[in-house]
Amino acid sequence: MFKNVIVRKPSKSMADGITSAPELGKPDYDLALKQHENYINALKSCGVEVTRLDLDERYPDSCFVEDVAVLNKKCAIITNPGAESRKGEEKEIINVIEKFYDKDKIEFIKAPGTLEGGDVMMVGDHFYVGLSDRTNQEGIDQFIAILKKYGLTGSAVEMKEFLHLKTGVAYLENNNMLVSGEFIEHPDFKDFNKILIDENEQYAANSIWVNDKVLVPKGYEKTKKAIEDAGYDVITVDTSEYRKLDGGLSCLSLRF
Ligand code: GLY
Repeated sequence: MFKNVIVRKPSKSMADGITSAPELGKPDYDLALKQHENYINALKSCGVEVTRLDLDERYPDSCFVEDVAVLNKKCAIITNPGAESRKGEEKEIINVIEKFYDKDKIEFIKAPGTLEGGDVMMVGDHFYVGLSDRTNQEGIDQFIAILKKYGLTGSAVEMKEFLHLKTGVAYLENNNMLVSGEFIEHPDFKDFNKILIDENEQYAANSIWVNDKVLVPKGYEKTKKAIEDAGYDVITVDTSEYRKLDGGLSCLSLRF
């Protein structure tokens, strides 16, 4: 179960955030702020304490706080983002992490290793890490070496299509996994109970389990029903403005 969540308020500069879908248009800032509040309220309804960080105009993608750290029960790992415009964001998370973790339990991914939290999926004591355009083999090797120190394990996941691993797959606990696109037949996930995402609802693969509830982006009815049919309470949250920046429900928080 998660006790804590960290979020960062989106900056106005989010209009300049990285996107692979410019055809969706620029995010509407006021609407993005409203959606962020709704997201926080949805998280609170799952029983977590939410720590809010101030906006940071220097980094257009800084509301996607998941990418700059990986937090678990034993340690915190500060990442080294692979995207050029995101380098430096990771330094801005350290202060708040120090409120939750002893200094000797805070670890760092160092260049030339790169790793973004969106590529990391926690399944119990094992961490799947996508070998993506943002996370390289050196970053994964460092990450797995850190995990080993704490009695945890990790493995690299080959991938081609998605931005981050969790753009296309989500672990919902109890061996249940949402899978879409290239991950449907991926050998690494063959032993999970797979909930398949319809190809027209791929964005909804980025749903999140929070204390036995599942937050699902608004507007993806087939996915919502499939998750409800698997026995979960679903909370829908509109993330239309974050989708314009390739971001979603997992990217917007650190849950631990
Ligand atoms: N726009 C989110 C990211 O590319 O990291």
